[in-house]
Amino acid sequence: MSASPTLFVVLAAGKGTRMKSSLPKVLHKIAGRTMLAHVLSAAQELGGGIAVVVGPEMETVAGEAIQAVPAAQVFLQPSPRGTADAVLAARTAIDQHGGDVIVLFADTPLIRPETVARLQKSLDAGADIAVLGFRPKDPAGYGRLLLDANGALLAIREERDASDTERRIGLCNSGVMAFRIPNLSSLLARIGNSNAKGEYYLTDAVALARSEGHRATVVECDEEEVLGVNARDQLALAEAIWQRRARLAFMQNGVTMIAPETVWLSFDTRIAQDVLIEPNVVFGTGVSIEEGAKILAFCHIEGASIGRGARVGPFARFRPGAKLGPDVHIGNFVEVKNTTLGPGAKANHLSYLGDGSVGAKANIGAGTIFCNYDGFNKEKTEIGEGAFIGSNTSLVAPLKIGAGAYIGSGSVITKDVSPGALALERSPQDERPGWADKFRILMSRRKASQKSNS
Ligand code: UD1
Ligand code: CA
Repeated sequence: MSASPTLFVVLAAGKGTRMKSSLPKVLHKIAGRTMLAHVLSAAQELGGGIAVVVGPEMETVAGEAIQAVPAAQVFLQPSPRGTADAVLAARTAIDQHGGDVIVLFADTPLIRPETVARLQKSLDAGADIAVLGFRPKDPAGYGRLLLDANGALLAIREERDASDTERRIGLCNSGVMAFRIPNLSSLLARIGNSNAKGEYYLTDAVALARSEGHRATVVECDEEEVLGVNARDQLALAEAIWQRRARLAFMQNGVTMIAPETVWLSFDTRIAQDVLIEPNVVFGTGVSIEEGAKILAFCHIEGASIGRGARVGPFARFRPGAKLGPDVHIGNFVEVKNTTLGPGAKANHLSYLGDGSVGAKANIGAGTIFCNYDGFNKEKTEIGEGAFIGSNTSLVAPLKIGAGAYIGSGSVITKDVSPGALALERSPQDERPGWADKFRILMSRRKASQKSNS
């Protein structure tokens, strides 16, 4: 049994100088979501309270925390004096809460709720402190976990303070720690800073708690899950790991990906069963794809929903507000933005459909453009069911094309068209019989006379 809901203390006060960025480190994104929001979402899945510790001049970080979890409490650590000091910045929340506390780092975005739940379980099983450990290929830089002969955790030694023997230990501290200790904050306040960095180390809580009769244990996880992002190469690595996991999860749920390593997903992408995704497709945020749809190669999709059985691409672009009903066909080099397409509507080639609606079964010919913007305002184009828009048509919004109407190719349509009507806007065609033949004879004679004169 869990004593009470857990309080998650998420540390985000580090400056992240190695990112070389004007943006605070934890606001850099993985799969379209900030690292901070990834960690908060993992915590939120487990339920309980959330406290976020930020540094000075990090209003944007605080704002992101509140946006991700409106109930989160945000605390300021006035200067970065170490991880124990950072946790103590949230002292009022810890004291008020009184139950289990789990510390998470905001720059460790791949942590899974299931793994954190394993720490909670080991508290339930009798541990007072449970530390998430891992065995990295290269342990350099990490704190080492010192165990006794029975596998109980004795202490955590930061690398700078470790002896040569201790540095040979492969089991490392991920930074994730769970506590079930009454008066945790008073324990943390007793941690000193006589170490190589002169910092207050949260990791010292282990030896201190043991000396006061508490039990500490280690739960192990994969290195990938606790990858810390300190620089841009690690950001890219974390992105790659996230993507690989997400693709696998979709395939396990019945999505076909011909070349999964070329498909890029967002944290909130939803794809139903029996969807086929060809190579090189990018899903921005806010996308949902319904059952049986086919996404052909090289599509870029953002803020869009694609209906059951629809077929889109290759080379189609969907921007926010694109809503495709069932069985819609969108072909190559078509851009759709803030436009709804009814069931079975088609736009198969080279078009821009912006700020409009297209009725069921309407057919949009090649090269049709919704002229939605005059430099000041965006206007709507509404096309009725079953209408037929001839190729190379400009539809100048605001505009309504009635159901079943027919628009002649090459027209620039500026006035509403009533249902069932034909509208076309073209100058009459002028034909001159025999003109081409005469023209050729005239031209070849002229060339011949120029040659004989030279
Ligand atoms: C820490 C651990 C180390 C572990 C490693 C895993 C300590 C003392 N060491 O080392 O055992 O192997 O993580 O990646 O905990 N932070 C603050 N305020 C501070 C200091 C840090 O909020 O004053 C935050 C940082 O933003 C970051 C986290 O705490 O999210 C970890 O701090 P960092 O300085 O990166 O610790 P490491 O040296 O990597
Ligand atoms: Ca770190």
